[in-house]
Amino acid sequence: MSINPSIARVVRLFATRFGKSPGIIVAAPGRVNLIGEHTDYNDGFVLPMALERRTLLVGSKAEDKQVVLHSLTTGESAEFSLRDELRRGEPGWANYVLGVVAGFRRLGIPVPGFNVLIDSDVPLGGGLSSSAALEVATATFLESLTGHKLDPVQKALLCQKAEHEFAGVPCGIMDQFTSVMARKDHLLLLDCRSQETRFIPVSDPSLAVLIINTNVRHKLADGEYAKRHAECEEAAHQLKVKALRDATPKLLQTHADKLSPQIFRRARHVISENSRTVLAAELFSASQWENVGELMYQSHDSLRDDYEVSCRELDTVVDIAHNIGVEGGVFGCRMTGGGFGGCAVALIRESNTASISRRILDDYECATKILPMLFASRPGEGTAVLLS
Ligand code: GLA
Repeated sequence: MSINPSIARVVRLFATRFGKSPGIIVAAPGRVNLIGEHTDYNDGFVLPMALERRTLLVGSKAEDKQVVLHSLTTGESAEFSLRDELRRGEPGWANYVLGVVAGFRRLGIPVPGFNVLIDSDVPLGGGLSSSAALEVATATFLESLTGHKLDPVQKALLCQKAEHEFAGVPCGIMDQFTSVMARKDHLLLLDCRSQETRFIPVSDPSLAVLIINTNVRHKLADGEYAKRHAECEEAAHQLKVKALRDATPKLLQTHADKLSPQIFRRARHVISENSRTVLAAELFSASQWENVGELMYQSHDSLRDDYEVSCRELDTVVDIAHNIGVEGGVFGCRMTGGGFGGCAVALIRESNTASISRRILDDYECATKILPMLFASRPGEGTAVLLS
């Protein structure tokens, strides 16, 4: 195993803190969604990829039933006993670990005490699934610790449940499935109803995916997410379908007078986004980047106007990217993740990465007075055990 510098550093810090070498090292990536936003909890389609950025868990078994966690990212520690009932608490990130421990225990898998150091280069709270990366890394760690390997689907669902129960966010399955199953140099087309996966190869070196972090996160994010979820359920109910996945533009038009204008627009976003996502997967397979880019702009417009989950900063990034255009090397750009801040994703010509990044950085800072953070990533691989 080749140990890269950051792993070596965490291993060293673990030994200093806990007085012995770690027995287990695991990693799980964050993700960026290329298209298919707010469709996963409507039984629809998503097209994400794992980032090359990931969360590392370095740890070992502890003698008693005590769990000690320390995050090198936030500088905070958490401690709890497995003899007590597991309850949500502070710091917030520890709840993701607690939720996954609770999931293992629910399966009847006894979890011993453990000590863990956590480090991550996935930006926190930026819509790149830092929380799913921590949940999935914890599940992979516990698989090694307990000797019980889970089926990948069961593992992703256990992590999703941890987020529902211990973080109170009624998220879909996209983030956890990607962090568990992603493959290097592939996008993941996930059917969120059947949970079937199709891997779309994206190995063309002339193409790059650029992530632009607006460095803002508006407070309403979580509450509004739950609200959108409920609005979609209402729309499905009124359209008399199991989920919005089953609705068509025609069905929506037929029922237009029964729906409030707002519910109508929410449904229109989900229905159109599902079609765009399936089409984008085909266009990716055919290397038709400009057509994929067009769908990305349409997705952004729909999220901004119909679903109302964008914000001024995200719209600014997308406008700048649009102005650079295909001539400048940008095929398409859109907000990614839950919205209300966080990141945008752009599909670009690799050879233009430096000039595009410079221009977005300058124009965004000029328009908002905020410094964005940009990085490019190839599709990375899913969670892995690095030492056990
Ligand atoms: C968050 C959720 C996902 C998904 C996206 C929106 O990232 O965790 O399940 O719903 O928002 O597409």
